[in-house]
Amino acid sequence: VKIGVLLGGRSAEREVSLRTGGAIYNALVNKGYDAVKIDVAGDFVGQLKNENITLAFLALHGPYGEDGTIQGLLEMLGIPYTGSGVLSSAMCMNKIATKKILIYEGLPTPDFLVVDVNTCREKGMQTAVKEILGIISLPLVVKAPTQGSTIGITFAKEAKDVAPALEEAFKYGREALVEKMIGGIEITSSVLGNDNPVALPLIEIVSATGVYDYTAKYTAGLSDHIIPPRIPAEIQETIKNLAVKTFKALGCRGLARVDFILDPEGKAYILEVNTIPGMTETSLYPDSARAAGIEFDDLAERLVNFALE
Ligand code: DAL
Ligand code: MG
Repeated sequence: VKIGVLLGGRSAEREVSLRTGGAIYNALVNKGYDAVKIDVAGDFVGQLKNENITLAFLALHGPYGEDGTIQGLLEMLGIPYTGSGVLSSAMCMNKIATKKILIYEGLPTPDFLVVDVNTCREKGMQTAVKEILGIISLPLVVKAPTQGSTIGITFAKEAKDVAPALEEAFKYGREALVEKMIGGIEITSSVLGNDNPVALPLIEIVSATGVYDYTAKYTAGLSDHIIPPRIPAEIQETIKNLAVKTFKALGCRGLARVDFILDPEGKAYILEVNTIPGMTETSLYPDSARAAGIEFDDLAERLVNFALE
């Protein structure tokens, strides 16, 4: 096989993707693969063809990479690729679509509302916020539904925080996801496989700044990954089962990282699914694999093999 590592791209997570792609490229070279990096920001389609790649390793995050668009292009070109397919990628990139599927499947996710920018403009922000607070009580989390790495996400503790939080989310699209904020422990579950996916060891995330946001995610030393989490073994099992069910419900392939919040009563809620989780030096998924005895280079190779299955 000749592997094209697709990286960069045009999303707000471009920098993260360059780091993920660089790490994957090195791992594949270490494993003896013929690999080439392809930046998906410019006119890359010609390069895709000229390099005669037989497999695309997707190291892209966010829109135009993790959302089904590049997957569709590769389907049309007849090039196999790592990770989830078109529909699954598109559903998981959109947190609103994800939550609708989760609810249909009876899987736990925090209560939410979808707020449209046009409705806010027509009613006026103040009226819109009042209506929102009549349905979901504070504190809230307002999210741009199709971004990753905490981009476009704001915590609203007081009523006055809601309008600016909505405006921030609307920078990325016309819909905002307004979610009930669940206080608790952040746990993430890395899932690996195709038809018989397995949950790798869970990670508890502790952020030095109190919020696991973009800075905490990508600055070494600003967050701790605690493996295994400091929670009872039976709750760990429950979360792993939920993660695998979520992976299957959304039709994921190869890999995905399912993010959870565990409330003080021991109830776990699914927040989102990342179909191309970060693979940088500070990333969760590789840490989880390592805890299962899978070194980074071997993980990259396994993902190649899953893509060729
Ligand atoms: N969206 C980032 C890359 C992650 O989930 O790891
Ligand atoms: Mg994400």
